[in-house]
Amino acid sequence: MTVKEEIEQLKKERNAVILAHYYVRPEVQEVADYIGDSFYLSRIAVGLKEQTIVFCGVSFMGKSAKILNPEKTVLMPDAAADCAMAHMADVQTIERMRKEYEDLAVVCYINSTAELKRHSDVCVTSANAVNIVRALPERNIFFIPDRHLAHFVAEQLPEKNFIYNDGCCPIHARISREEIHKAKAKHPGALVLAHPECPGEVLEAADYIGSTSGIISYAEKSSREEFIICTEVGVEYELQKRCPGKKFYFTETRPVCQDMKSITLEKILHVLRTGENEVLLDGSVITGSRKPLERMLDLGQK
Ligand code: 13P
Ligand code: SF4
Repeated sequence: MTVKEEIEQLKKERNAVILAHYYVRPEVQEVADYIGDSFYLSRIAVGLKEQTIVFCGVSFMGKSAKILNPEKTVLMPDAAADCAMAHMADVQTIERMRKEYEDLAVVCYINSTAELKRHSDVCVTSANAVNIVRALPERNIFFIPDRHLAHFVAEQLPEKNFIYNDGCCPIHARISREEIHKAKAKHPGALVLAHPECPGEVLEAADYIGSTSGIISYAEKSSREEFIICTEVGVEYELQKRCPGKKFYFTETRPVCQDMKSITLEKILHVLRTGENEVLLDGSVITGSRKPLERMLDLGQK
């Protein structure tokens, strides 16, 4: 039996379902039952009929799935796969901001630890951040951990007062204006599609800014044929699947998230066989961090 066939068989035996983010390896996306961006995956995780969720993504994704489904078993193919940005904020600063501003909402990007979520008022993803922050009654917004996404949201909501936190995604933050100019010089007919985790100078040069799903559906619907993609290279698999014949270019340094790439078919097979790397969280962490996540799902529908 091939690894893929064994995964299929064990999935049935264990009543398991595989969720994968667009940044994981193509062969991992191939065996997934659901592939998507962070918002889609957190929404889909709620109400799945299977008892076990194998989450092909980084730690905060598996934990969010567990927090939203505490009665399910969530398995991580690579327990060490983590998002560096998820740790780039701290509870002491949140508490300080709460004392400093009376009318404050702490808005937590889903790329964050469960502990940070627990101390926040609402979670957001790159797909819904603008709409959710707009809907909040508070004027002062402490946005953690990503400063680039915070600036992108703030620009569209001048009625809010943003307080920024010094975190960022090291992969997206590395993409530069110079790289975009070089790519445009090489492919003058291409549109630039960028993720809001990119620095402002990259977003200024972009024709479209959106989450990974946003980028994929923009390219799919566009009448144009060529695109410079400013996000992690894993999206190429879905882009090519949905847009055969169109051309996708990445910046010279090719943005790769090694943590996402650490997930392999063999590791999926291993956790399905052994039940290892189960996400286990304290009841208090689950209860505390569930509220901001559920509020996101609720506001995200509107
Ligand atoms: P989205 O899935 O919201 O596009 O975010 C990208 C990302 O960096 C996930 O880690
Ligand atoms: Fe985190 Fe960036 Fe990797 Fe996404 S691409 S998981 S934000 S380090």
